[in-house]
Amino acid sequence: MFPEQNVMKDPFGRTINYLRISVTDRCDLRCRYCMPAKGVVRVPMARILSFEEILELARIAVDMGVDKIRLTGGEPLVRRGIERLVHMLAQIPGVRDLAMTTNAQQLQRLAPALAEAGLMRVNISLDTLDAQVFTHLTRGGDLQKTLDGIAAARAAGLTPIKLNCVVQRSADEPHARAVADFAQKEGLQARFIQQMDFESGYFAQVDGGDGGDCPRCNRLRLSADGRIRPCLFSDLGFSVRELGPKRALIQALQNKPLRGGRCAENPMRGVGG
Ligand code: 5AD
Ligand code: SF4
Repeated sequence: MFPEQNVMKDPFGRTINYLRISVTDRCDLRCRYCMPAKGVVRVPMARILSFEEILELARIAVDMGVDKIRLTGGEPLVRRGIERLVHMLAQIPGVRDLAMTTNAQQLQRLAPALAEAGLMRVNISLDTLDAQVFTHLTRGGDLQKTLDGIAAARAAGLTPIKLNCVVQRSADEPHARAVADFAQKEGLQARFIQQMDFESGYFAQVDGGDGGDCPRCNRLRLSADGRIRPCLFSDLGFSVRELGPKRALIQALQNKPLRGGRCAENPMRGVGG
């Protein structure tokens, strides 16, 4: 049995039990809706939290009431030794769900080690099943690698596998329908995410997911450069190094907005959705 866990409530009475950890701002793809063509200014390595710092923060968050952790990026699989971090987090008593969101380009190679380390499941980005469109959309990605990654994840038991499919307007678009058919055929779950326009501050609910639903928001985010962010749609962040993990968590909790507003740049990139 786990020891009795604390419950974390924000000022609006929402229970916060979900921590999304961005382990890197780097990515091996350049999806058009995510990255400008010329790339983005990268966070200097010295500002990226070490695995030990992430572990300390996660332990405290779990002690405060988090029981669900997701690793994101950028692309989490480009962080060297990611399976070591997975192993460290999997050892924390009270973590009931340990998942990852990935583009799966390198998952074929890494799935066995991740499963062995204690990763439970993966969400995989897949916007199209047309290899040419895939390469165009991701500016150089290889559809076959993602498909091989999906197969490897299944073989390693990283299930249930969810597919994240970004759509322009609706899940009725041809590429989205192809992803839906593929998911059904393969026994995977597909979720359709409307492409977000971060300039206008407009955002959309995840169809069949739990993003963008402010009244039921249950999450905090840790950015790769060590800030706890109360909301994807706000630039607010509380530095773990400056404040210490506990105070950063408490301040982020206390500053969770009732609903999302605007923020300066695409937050999915450095904060991982
Ligand atoms: N709109 C919607 N989703 C986005 N993502 C990144 N940028 C955007 C955007 N502009 C999401 C995609 C991808 C995940 C890593 O981040 O769902 O699968
Ligand atoms: Fe990389 Fe994901 Fe952004 Fe695509 S959406 S560039 S895979 S972080």
